[in-house]
Amino acid sequence: MGLVQIVCNVAIVTLLQVVFNQLSLKEVLRENALSPTLWRPLAPPLRGHMILAQITDFHVKTGGRRAYGVVDTATRLAAAVTCLSALDPQPDLVVATGDLTDSGQPEEYDLLREILRPLAVPVYLMPGNHDDRETLRQAFRGDGYFPANGFLNYVVEVPDLRLVALDTVVTGEGGGMLCATRLDWLERQLRAAPDRATAIAMHHPPFRSGIAHMDAIGLDGADAFAAVLGRYPQVKRVFCGHLHRAIQTGFGGDIVASTAPSTAHQVSLDLRADGPAAFVMEPPGYQLHVWDARGACVSHTGFVGTYDGPYPFREGGTANAR
Ligand SMILES: [Fe+2]
Repeated sequence: MGLVQIVCNVAIVTLLQVVFNQLSLKEVLRENALSPTLWRPLAPPLRGHMILAQITDFHVKTGGRRAYGVVDTATRLAAAVTCLSALDPQPDLVVATGDLTDSGQPEEYDLLREILRPLAVPVYLMPGNHDDRETLRQAFRGDGYFPANGFLNYVVEVPDLRLVALDTVVTGEGGGMLCATRLDWLERQLRAAPDRATAIAMHHPPFRSGIAHMDAIGLDGADAFAAVLGRYPQVKRVFCGHLHRAIQTGFGGDIVASTAPSTAHQVSLDLRADGPAAFVMEPPGYQLHVWDARGACVSHTGFVGTYDGPYPFREGGTANAR
């Protein structure tokens, strides 16, 4: 039995144990722990392309508590982990673009680690406005990619791709910021590797979505950010969270900036100027960003859950045009 198959089986058993045995999520995950940290060595590229899986806005709460009294965010993240663990081929790495926990408490990060532990590939985290920078740093300092102090910015070198994670959090605020300090750091990283295809990952998107209550807690410094990126054409994509929906737009010239669905609840698709702040229980999801060796990226949105199919495209035993 291969490692991927073992991990899939553990994740499926975990979910079944939670659902049918009424065990607490933490009890079950502790029993099934596979490794003391989330750090994993990157496998060499085998397929001629690199798959970056993006998951976001888990809003993990402990003790079975539900976000806004409705959403069992911890169990929903466990289901997303089960789904990612079953992918074939497996992603090369997983990037989580913020709002990892609902209120930034140490015990929430402990539970987050346990839920993510079955993933067999490297996992990289960054903070959102619901997180606490220092508590996150402490909880995952052993994974080795967070700086010892300051903003939680870092660079991941992947075959065929360079990933730059930016910390957009403003402590105590719903909105985010890319200040001069963070943009100076970004410019130094981009100047150091002009020939490497680069993606930037961060929580707050640098564009207005048209969803008014989310735009009200958007990103300060987006124009200055675009000006920096305009000087570095190796930047191809900007991956974000925060909006709890799959949204994409052009940004800073030829760059595509996008957000991914949450593994928990989705922000209502309401483009009225006075639309209220509200969420819906549309299917939770994730994205797979597939990079080739030339630095081109194609993005797919997948949904967490069990759905009918797959069915073959054939009628009466005869292959049919699609
Ligand atoms: Fe969120």
